[in-house]
Amino acid sequence: MQIHNKTFLITGAASGLGAATAERLVAAGGRVVLCDLSDAVEAHAKRLGDAAAAVRGDVTSAEEIQAAVQAAVALGGQLDGVVHCAGVVSVAKLLDRQGNPADLDAYARTVQINLVGTFNVMRLAAAAMATNPPGDDNERGVIINTASVAAFDGQVGQCAYSASKAGVVGMSLPAARELSRHGVRIMAIAPGVFETPMMSDIPQDAVDSLSAAVPFPKRLGRPDEFAHLAEQIITNTMLNGEVIRLDGGIRMQ
Ligand SMILES: NC(=O)c1ccc[n+]([C@@H]2O[C@H](COP(=O)([O-])OP(=O)(O)OC[C@H]3O[C@@H](n4cnc5c(N)ncnc54)[C@H](O)[C@@H]3O)[C@@H](O)[C@H]2O)c1
Repeated sequence: MQIHNKTFLITGAASGLGAATAERLVAAGGRVVLCDLSDAVEAHAKRLGDAAAAVRGDVTSAEEIQAAVQAAVALGGQLDGVVHCAGVVSVAKLLDRQGNPADLDAYARTVQINLVGTFNVMRLAAAAMATNPPGDDNERGVIINTASVAAFDGQVGQCAYSASKAGVVGMSLPAARELSRHGVRIMAIAPGVFETPMMSDIPQDAVDSLSAAVPFPKRLGRPDEFAHLAEQIITNTMLNGEVIRLDGGIRMQ
């Protein structure tokens, strides 16, 4: 699918990977609806000009994501693609230092946002895309989800985060198989460690040791490198039902 004159919904678009993706898709001639819980999404849409609109919305809400999908249809006539970046990171051990068990609500919250939120965005976007007239190759849409390398090599304290992202990985193939008859592709990107506000709490010595653990290049990923891969996935119709690690070769200890 070409990006020029197509309309994309980007979640988590106020910050980090989603904000960078919105910028890149507008630069490539696309239209974007930026959806985020944060009101910073409005200022970012304004910066991107007439090709962008903002919707405040929670990815776990059926009504709010339906409104975001409708905003994309209103902006461009139809929804052509989704880059779903909204998510949260969480760290909690199964047992704390005193041997107390982890908080169950905190675990469920991470899974609700990262996994159930992904399913919610996929199902509502797919319903809209399935009604699009077929384009080149009979393609009607493409959905890119965001997993994490923690889906494969989760670290201590990442039970909730790793489980939520492993769920995103696990949905890719069955969703792609199911939506193939509608001409809708499903892909996921599993980033390593990227320089975004999500990672801003990490102390410099941890950033240095994470950078040193990347085989090449020895640094954290840049948000535009994620956006670049999203652009390539959108424009390469053969990519479907797969999860691509974008991590400089890092395997978490
Ligand atoms: N930065 C990394 O190193 C890294 C690595 C692997 C995976 N990821 C994943 O990439 C995605 C984007 O992360 P980022 O680094 O850009 O983080 P970020 O914190 O900069 O941006 C995430 C955005 O999601 C929004 N958000 C959170 N919960 C939401 C909800 N319920 N509904 C709507 N919006 C919500 C936040 O307001 C924020 O603007 C996340 O899914 C994250 O798990 C990030």
